[in-house]
Amino acid sequence: MVSAPGRVNLIGEHIDYHGLPVLPMALRRSIRIHFQPRADCRIRVTSGAYGHRDFLWTPNLTPVARGDWENYLRAAAQAIAGKWGVMNGIDATIDADLPPAAGLSSSSALIVAVTLALLRANLREASFEELMEILPDGEQFVGTRGGGMDHAASLASREGCASLIQFVPLAVHHIPIPPDWAFLVANSLHTAEKSGAVREQYNAVRAAGTLALRQTGFASYSEAIHGRTEIDLCALAAAQHLPPAFLHVVTEAFRVRHAVQAMREDDSARFGRLLLASHASLRDRLQVSCPALDRLVEAAMDSGALGARLTGAGFGGCAVVFCRRADLSQVHAGLVERFYSGTPGHILHAEPGPGAVNS
Ligand code: GLA
Repeated sequence: MVSAPGRVNLIGEHIDYHGLPVLPMALRRSIRIHFQPRADCRIRVTSGAYGHRDFLWTPNLTPVARGDWENYLRAAAQAIAGKWGVMNGIDATIDADLPPAAGLSSSSALIVAVTLALLRANLREASFEELMEILPDGEQFVGTRGGGMDHAASLASREGCASLIQFVPLAVHHIPIPPDWAFLVANSLHTAEKSGAVREQYNAVRAAGTLALRQTGFASYSEAIHGRTEIDLCALAAAQHLPPAFLHVVTEAFRVRHAVQAMREDDSARFGRLLLASHASLRDRLQVSCPALDRLVEAAMDSGALGARLTGAGFGGCAVVFCRRADLSQVHAGLVERFYSGTPGHILHAEPGPGAVNS
């Protein structure tokens, strides 16, 4: 059996693909695969929720119809084949307590889980670094190309900790979350499917950040930030008339640093303010929020949260809400009342669980 958790990003949004550190945590909710190795190259997978899929693993797999979940299985097989070649297949069943399409990275968790199942069935050891070489690119196969945050969080998180993921060079630092801190993930009920229009918007935001960087002449955002303060970078942005995307990326990078410091020092008020500042930057500079997410953040604050922000790509989806553990039920009840007109079932208590390779 292999199990790959979903994640919620605490802070560091729309900067992973620019190579800057981010701070997600893995959830105690995951995709689980029970598998048996096969003696041939067939991959046969059954999911209680999505039915049965069966295909032959060949060196150059192509996607099936758009939106078919078989593409996630194929993406994993193709990612492995690109590095190690085709191997033997599996007979497998999938079950999950990770809700799909809720901004909790269930699709990356599925690709991670299938990849690990196929590798383990073939007694192939793969390091975290090797998996990170193939997984983010592998997801391109299903039409999305995010950064590496979701896969890294799903693979390498540690129970009770947030994961400070650094991409250049790749490293994960486990930051213990103070025991009286609590996080909720609340759905804005505005669906942001990672396909169609949202995908194009995501790519446009990514391109805007890259274009802004090019204007500065720096080779990377890390280089732009190195040895400079936020004030220096704001002055640079003003002098060079850089687009707002530049300021989002660099200020968000500083917020991640400060958030890690706040977590280490158990400074919950500061951590909360950083989440709110991140949301404001995503809303105003990158324009990836939406009215429902803005209202949700407001409702969280009115209910006694210390901070809240949209989490994941944005354009809808979920907000992460931060509060003291002692205030958890009050914040939860306040949100149900204020945002969901009394209807429960749209909020998840996010507890930091282990990653797939640490479990
Ligand atoms: C999506 C991607 C991530 C990251 C976020 C934005 O969730 O999968 O890699 O880019 O958007 O921070």
